[in-house]
Amino acid sequence: MVAETEAESQYLHVLSAFLAMEPVDSVISLARGCNGGSITENAQRFFWEICVKAAANGNATYAKKLLKKLINEVELENGEVLDEVYEEYALYMLTFKEDILVKDNIRITKFISFLFREGSYKHPSCPRSRKLVIPLQCSLNMLEGDTGCSIWPSSLFLSEFVLSNPELFSNKSCFEVGSGVGMVGICLAHVKAKKVILTDGDLLTLSNMKLNLERNHLNYDDELLKQPGEAQSTQVKCIHLPWETASESELSEYRPDIILGADVIYDPSCLPHLLRVLVALLSKPPKRDNGSLETEDSDTTPQGHSPKVAYIASVIRNADTFNVFLTLVDQMDLSITDVTTELRPPFELLPYMHSYDRSSVRLFSISSR
Ligand SMILES: C[S@@+](CC[C@H](N)C(=O)[O-])C[C@H]1O[C@@H](n2cnc3c(N)ncnc32)[C@H](O)[C@@H]1O
Repeated sequence: MVAETEAESQYLHVLSAFLAMEPVDSVISLARGCNGGSITENAQRFFWEICVKAAANGNATYAKKLLKKLINEVELENGEVLDEVYEEYALYMLTFKEDILVKDNIRITKFISFLFREGSYKHPSCPRSRKLVIPLQCSLNMLEGDTGCSIWPSSLFLSEFVLSNPELFSNKSCFEVGSGVGMVGICLAHVKAKKVILTDGDLLTLSNMKLNLERNHLNYDDELLKQPGEAQSTQVKCIHLPWETASESELSEYRPDIILGADVIYDPSCLPHLLRVLVALLSKPPKRDNGSLETEDSDTTPQGHSPKVAYIASVIRNADTFNVFLTLVDQMDLSITDVTTELRPPFELLPYMHSYDRSSVRLFSISSR
């Protein structure tokens, strides 16, 4: 493989930031970094080309915003704006008179590129590639009922964690609570988890998640399949699971090895229900008559079934809410450890994403006492 030059790697960051629809200021400042601080003709041509393609793929409003900013910045520096850039921007001005993204809960597609370091990692599903690009339909409106259709920082962190530790998840049965857009589940399928059960309590979120699985070529099933054996190696399920109404008997059917959750600790009224779900999922399966543990999973230690664990990633926005969570964890006989430093992925897989503050996310492991 030919080694990537520094410039190629920097342009890859610009492209990745553009595809992830990072703030336009941030994308342009990455481009400046490629060329010693100025916006060269080459950089303008690069933007022009990616914007033309973006428009063809339906993300014209964002491309228009970026070109506008680019022209402003070059003009401010008394630089020369390329004719192609002016022409492309004029075309957008005529075609898209209003900024439709400002209105309502319009869905857009972001492409999240996870970039792997040369030689550092062989991706199980694409060993020769140094990047994994995940298209995700999402909302720009994080609040007002669209919470689960936005991409939250903890799911970026958890996705980096999964992709950086494939050995922890491959051939494991994984269950996610509050899965939102489904990115963590898509990463779990890439590292060849045996089973991925994605759940959410919101039906609109669930249908958006299913669309994202389809866009990532993953077949899913609404029901728990008793018979494995589809073409893809990971069985993926999407289940409507509000924590308030999930029954113990339903939860006891899933028996995952690993439970995951990203940004699910924010509403104090939901926390007792979330904790009840975690307790049920973390509990050990009942013993058979011969004393062995009743489990369908093959990955057992010589002593018995490997201990179950929940990985919960969270930004602690409200200390009181988080303390409610900790008190409930204690009352429900669970143990919790902050494993952020210990398990933080050694390399950033999203180095171009300046809107994502990795240091704001904590990772906790939770298990039965
Ligand atoms: C802040 S979002 C995080 C989404 C995703 N995990 C991420 O990090 O991008 C919280 C998610 O939890 C789901 N959720 C909130 N309360 C819930 C409840 N009571 N039962 C089930 N899901 C719930 C929401 O629908 C939403 O998808």
